[in-house]
Amino acid sequence: MKAHSILVYASWLVYAPSALASRDQVVLKDPAATRATKNVAIIGEALEYAGSSTAYFLQKYSQERGIPLNITVYERDGHIGGRSITVGVYGDEQNPVELGASIFVEVNHNLMNAAKEFNLSTSGIRELSTEGPVLGIWNGKDFVYTQNSGGSWWDTAKLFWKYGLAPLKTVKLMKATVGKFLKMYEEPYFPWKSLSHVAYELGLTAVTASTGEQFLDQNGIGKLFAQDIIQASTRVNYAQNLPLIHGLEAMVCMATDGAQAIEGGNWRIFSNMLAASQATVLLNRTVSKVERQEDATYMISTKGTESSVTLDHQTFDEVVLAGPYQYSRIDFEPEPRHLPDSIPYVQLHVTLFTSKHKLSPRAFNLSSDEVVPQVVLTTLPPGEHHGSDPAGVGSPGFFSISLLRPSMDTREGKDELEYLYKVFSPTPLNETFMANILGLAENRTISNADVSWMYRKVWNSYPYEYPRVTFEELQLDDGLWYTAGIESFISTMETSSLMGKNIARLMVDAWEG
Ligand SMILES: *[C@@H]1O[C@H](CO)[C@@H](O)[C@H](O)[C@H]1NC(C)=O
Ligand SMILES: *[C@@H]1O[C@H](CO)[C@@H](O)[C@H](O)[C@H]1NC(C)=O
Ligand SMILES: *[C@@H]1O[C@H](CO)[C@@H](O)[C@H](O)[C@H]1NC(C)=O
Ligand SMILES: *[C@@H]1O[C@H](CO)[C@@H](O)[C@H](O)[C@H]1NC(C)=O
Ligand SMILES: *[C@@H]1O[C@H](CO)[C@@H](O)[C@H](O)[C@H]1NC(C)=O
Ligand SMILES: *[C@@H]1O[C@H](CO)[C@@H](O)[C@H](O)[C@H]1NC(C)=O
Repeated sequence: MKAHSILVYASWLVYAPSALASRDQVVLKDPAATRATKNVAIIGEALEYAGSSTAYFLQKYSQERGIPLNITVYERDGHIGGRSITVGVYGDEQNPVELGASIFVEVNHNLMNAAKEFNLSTSGIRELSTEGPVLGIWNGKDFVYTQNSGGSWWDTAKLFWKYGLAPLKTVKLMKATVGKFLKMYEEPYFPWKSLSHVAYELGLTAVTASTGEQFLDQNGIGKLFAQDIIQASTRVNYAQNLPLIHGLEAMVCMATDGAQAIEGGNWRIFSNMLAASQATVLLNRTVSKVERQEDATYMISTKGTESSVTLDHQTFDEVVLAGPYQYSRIDFEPEPRHLPDSIPYVQLHVTLFTSKHKLSPRAFNLSSDEVVPQVVLTTLPPGEHHGSDPAGVGSPGFFSISLLRPSMDTREGKDELEYLYKVFSPTPLNETFMANILGLAENRTISNADVSWMYRKVWNSYPYEYPRVTFEELQLDDGLWYTAGIESFISTMETSSLMGKNIARLMVDAWEG
């Protein structure tokens, strides 16, 4: 496998496409079980990795200890995955493309282990051609860096030639930081009852307390390398610049070794986890109310997505809210003891489109015989600071443009070679922008002949990762668990999965008393 670590945009990122299949399984209990069945509800507000991981590890741990378990998953959407979804290119489901991120890395132990357990094959990222650079970093005026081949950042002589010791120092710092993070998987730290405490004990609070810019500066990493390479990575992964995003997320963006994806989509990990959990999965079901009862159980009331009529009441021993509280729209009664703060989330515009045009050299200040890199990441030009502006995109106007793959348009008897592109931006792409990057005359109306297919989506993709030293409680109240606190610490598929595993372990440990 030849993985292009540089193409790690979206590397540990939070979304995976949905498993479109719906499953309504009934859990069969071991009749010989003498212990009372634990009934657990997982509320997937846009059920993500955290929800399916919680279900999977709950089942695993409770089986190991012989505790009968009955998991019910409530999902507001009509499919598993919530905000995570694949889209069929040209509307063809057989030709899926991921709307969000698709890559995870070697240090993502949960994802790697699950891929193995479920026998899912992985692949690296395809390099399209030897023509032109594979990657370029554009600051709105110039390419500050281009790379002709894939491979790790760190294998590239050019990087050292241009930035001296900064790349080496960055690798060292990243490895030390990731090493601390990996202790969160192991005893005596795992399972952790408080994210704030474990982060502090591992020395990670010192990393989340600073902005990426401060952290790199404190560690003697040169400004040029930080601005060109590290900031390009924080922008493509999190749509945030170094003066805003905290040091830990900046380091995570540089941990790209062994970048890979599950063939057919990373969502397969999470759909396999959910299947293995034997949970009853209820789709199109909005949880409207979570009510704590006198016997300390929780009553959950649900509605159909489009009806105001209450469909159902069920009683559970414990409840897991697997999604940001601020977006849950659930009436909790009484109000939980710990209320998570509302924090700003990035509104990321993802645009997928197909075109027969290649990216225009002129739009990127190249001469007409030059080729635009396959993946264009961005940073700010010298002297431009957007640290405090949440959108922060600056003069490039977008975070990344990737030519994903060639694409044959065979609709209506056509047989045209096109290219499939994906753009991350803070605003919708308009015609001026499209005409410019595709090298079309200014103010020209973009026709189907220029852009034959387009799909737009806006996500609340991840929080703005402002520096902070405390994180939300794992238990909002007795028996009411919360996964999304991890999002302000590190927002990735892997960390959400780790949070699910951690909570599952705490729950089962407590059941055993
Ligand atoms: C399991 O949960 C479902 C709700 O999804 C409930 O209808 C069923 O009675 C529960 N089974 C047991 C054995 O508690
Ligand atoms: C969920 O709702 C959507 C549209 O409202 C519908 O197309 C879909 O079939 C539903 N799925 C399930 C599993 O009920
Ligand atoms: C794993 O997948 C490969 C290829 O898809 C298949 O040949 C093999 O039999 C599978 N192994 C197991 C244990 O399922
Ligand atoms: C194009 O690049 C040159 C240097 O390579 C730079 O001086 C100039 O400002 C750039 N032009 C634009 C329009 O960004
Ligand atoms: C089109 O989008 C660009 C940024 O992507 C923006 O600068 C420009 O003002 C927009 N033009 C119109 C006509 O909205
Ligand atoms: C394109 O439109 C803008 C604003 O509508 C105008 O200022 C500009 O002159 C036009 N350019 C051309 C080449 O027509």
